[in-house]
Amino acid sequence: MSSDRSEHELRVSKIRNGTVIDHIAGGQALNVLAILGIDGSEGFGVSIGMNVPSDRLGHKDILKVEGRELSQSEVDVLSLIAPEATINIVREYNVVEKNRVEPPEEVVGVLSCPNRNCISNDSEPVETRFEVLDEGVRCDYCSEIIREQIADHIDV
Ligand code: CTP
Repeated sequence: MSSDRSEHELRVSKIRNGTVIDHIAGGQALNVLAILGIDGSEGFGVSIGMNVPSDRLGHKDILKVEGRELSQSEVDVLSLIAPEATINIVREYNVVEKNRVEPPEEVVGVLSCPNRNCISNDSEPVETRFEVLDEGVRCDYCSEIIREQIADHIDV
């Protein structure tokens, strides 16, 4: 990095322990936080960079969550809205693991079905289930397909 650029850049500090979710599609960071169920009240340190320049993506979002590692099911769901994301596990300031996300076969209990007549929307509680397809996700109960803006249907 040139000294000129570093003078003008506000850099978010490195974290000691936790997770850095990098290469999130620009504008999706808040949806990623919603999937993780983080709203700030838990007390974790959270840094959010939105629409920051990226060589690979043009611009990207980045999230740093201190003191929290992600479960596989959380990472699976992230892949639906941030397919290019890299999950970096940081311990004692070092990146000890770096994983790309992979789409799961199904997503259970995370998305709500947009079909109002679907039984998953009845007052009787039933866990939502969607099969992951190339073109979107399909409700197991009524076969409704969500093709776009999947994050709008996150029910967390
Ligand atoms: N990071 C951090 N705190 C640390 C270590 C790393 O916040 N203690 C952040 C870095 O700022 C970076 C991300 O975690 O945004 C990944 O770190 P690293 O693998 O060192 O960076 P790159 O090699 O640039 O990652 P990539 O190749 O995945 O782009």
